[in-house]
Amino acid sequence: MRHFLKETDLSAAEISAVFAQAAALKAARGRATASDLARQSWGLMFFKKSTRTRVSFQVGVHELGGLPVMLNADDLQLSRGETVADTAKVLSRYLHGMVIRCHEHALLEEFARCGTMPVVNALSDFLHPCQFMTDMFTLAERYAPGRPEQYAASLKGRKIAFLGDTACNMANSFVLGGAALGAEIALAGPAGYEPGAEVRAQLKADGLKETFTFTTDAAAAVKGADMVYTDVWVSMGMEAEKAERLKLMQPYQVNAKLMALAKPSAYFMHCLPAHPGEEVSADVLASPQSIIFDQAENRLHVQKAILAHLAAHRG
Ligand code: CP
Repeated sequence: MRHFLKETDLSAAEISAVFAQAAALKAARGRATASDLARQSWGLMFFKKSTRTRVSFQVGVHELGGLPVMLNADDLQLSRGETVADTAKVLSRYLHGMVIRCHEHALLEEFARCGTMPVVNALSDFLHPCQFMTDMFTLAERYAPGRPEQYAASLKGRKIAFLGDTACNMANSFVLGGAALGAEIALAGPAGYEPGAEVRAQLKADGLKETFTFTTDAAAAVKGADMVYTDVWVSMGMEAEKAERLKLMQPYQVNAKLMALAKPSAYFMHCLPAHPGEEVSADVLASPQSIIFDQAENRLHVQKAILAHLAAHRG
């Protein structure tokens, strides 16, 4: 059984294949009917709020010929104490795959271990691999236009600056996925926000060399970058730390002065939702360098390719 819980659950060859399939699905959207999930039903289970992920997966399963079954975790017996193991076993009798957004990454792993269907990580407190794959696809569309077979290779050696909360799930995804794709990840955030032991252990477990650096100096990280990325300073579940984080992360706001240190051709990216005036200035968000809405659109195409890939490779 194949799952997509983390960036390294796909090999380098599979990432290339998924990018190529995403490009083909994007080009064919509205003109061709895909049937990769025909007569299949996929559960979409959310323990946290979502706009992009929820809608892009629901539309994506539908466009691949399947039935998306929306599951609000609060409405399930899981919220009244039924175990993850029993829930996974029962839902595997009805569904052909699961997409889950949750807090603890361990829940995804347990669900994948106990169920008998593919599981996709739609964000955990540890990683956000669907967003990472989409972000890399969105960049590669620009680096290798019209050559999807070159998308993964076009990312090798690129300098990606990630600013702000450098210990969040999105930063972890860049640390792990960046190593898998050979990109240079320059993290800049407050002292104490270095990538944690969990992501370093995952790199080691996957036999990957670290390709990230961490600094408290925002300008040093952005200098010469091909792309500058940020995420909200207060991730879901971190609301109690809001005041402290807003103060600590102020020097890492992506603004025009900081963007001027990146390459003139550099792109600005953000997984959204954005908080203009906090992690990014309003002018950078709206600037020609900003490709945030292409990122958001590509969630649909890339996730469709991931779902089709898992459906085609299930045991
Ligand atoms: N970027 C992202 O995952 O967006 P949502 O939280 O709206 O799904």
